Amino acid sequence: MKRGEMPEFPHEMLREIYEQPEALRRTLSIYLSGQRLNQGFAGRLKGWSSAEGEVLIAASGSSRHSGLAAEITLEDLCGLAVDVEYSSEYSCRGGTERRHPSAIVLSQSGETSDTLAALREAHRRGHKTLAITNASASTMALEADVSMPLAAGVEKAVPATKSFTCQLAVLYLLALYEASRMGQMDAEALTAQVARLQALPKSIEAQLDGWREQLASLASKYKSAASFLYLGRGVHYAIAREGALKLKEASYIHAEGYPAGELKHGPNALVSDTVPLVVLATVDRDLDASVLRYEKTVQLLRDLKTQGAKVIAIGNANDQEVPALVSDYVPVEPASEHLLPISEVVPLQLFSYFMALEHGVDVDRPRNLSKAVVETPSAA
Ligand code: AGP
Repeated sequence: MKRGEMPEFPHEMLREIYEQPEALRRTLSIYLSGQRLNQGFAGRLKGWSSAEGEVLIAASGSSRHSGLAAEITLEDLCGLAVDVEYSSEYSCRGGTERRHPSAIVLSQSGETSDTLAALREAHRRGHKTLAITNASASTMALEADVSMPLAAGVEKAVPATKSFTCQLAVLYLLALYEASRMGQMDAEALTAQVARLQALPKSIEAQLDGWREQLASLASKYKSAASFLYLGRGVHYAIAREGALKLKEASYIHAEGYPAGELKHGPNALVSDTVPLVVLATVDRDLDASVLRYEKTVQLLRDLKTQGAKVIAIGNANDQEVPALVSDYVPVEPASEHLLPISEVVPLQLFSYFMALEHGVDVDRPRNLSKAVVETPSAA
């Protein structure tokens, strides 16, 4: 099959999972020329960055999870101080503020009422605002000072998939831009990072069919689980949260995402034959901090094995240690630390999709949910 051609899919969610490589390519092409940020990039963001080096991110649901990943990336690569708020909380908080962050709102639809209210609240506080949405003519895109659209294409299934990975990609580009603007990254390093990002769509494309087969079989194996705990450290914690949310909304199975180091501070009491774990154990061997996080995760996996826990681990395709410590191992091609989330979330999306099928859920339209949570105007 040629690139861009899609086979028949039984559900929009599966189609949208498979559309991710093309969605990423389209989105990157808005911002890149060859292996450089294009000329419009700086112009687009002019006046947005705050002199104080602070960033406030407001979003809901999956979009907030991409914000959690961006928090770590912006802090690690740029040294910025980043706060990630729930839109629904930020928009209801009054009080005075002595900080002057640049604000980002993240929203697939660009219409979520709470996030729109957060955008307006950020304006009221005098912050410059950037909207990253999948709808370039959405209310948020139009009201924000600056807009960075995604080109994920229409996303029909209620569970967000391709919009999420495209958000991660745009946020990563934003981090590269800020790092280079602030003198934290030279031109050579910037080009190398862009090249790594550009390599991801092809890499994901090559892994999709293998993941599809493996995750379908894991969903069948784990379908009777009562609940799942998803664990990750650093930027991977955001993906643990996203994996758990996706499982809940798609399959109605309870799941929670935790920072891996928090397990023994309470949640471990839940782990049992019917409560397995999903652990993000990927690593960037070129980055000391990533290796440290990985080693701590490996130690936790040893302890969990001794404890008799059932664990599905997502790890590097060439990992020598983790497969022997866990019940099931899902390989992901190695990538750099802050890019790994874009590929490691894909098998988690597939797991949720196949768990939904196992449980007979209408995965594109799960009960009680809608694609965009917007307030209906009162009749008065
Ligand atoms: C994602 O799978 C969910 N359907 C939901 O959490 C969603 O991300 C949230 O409602 C925010 O929507 P938005 O990105 O359109 O603002």
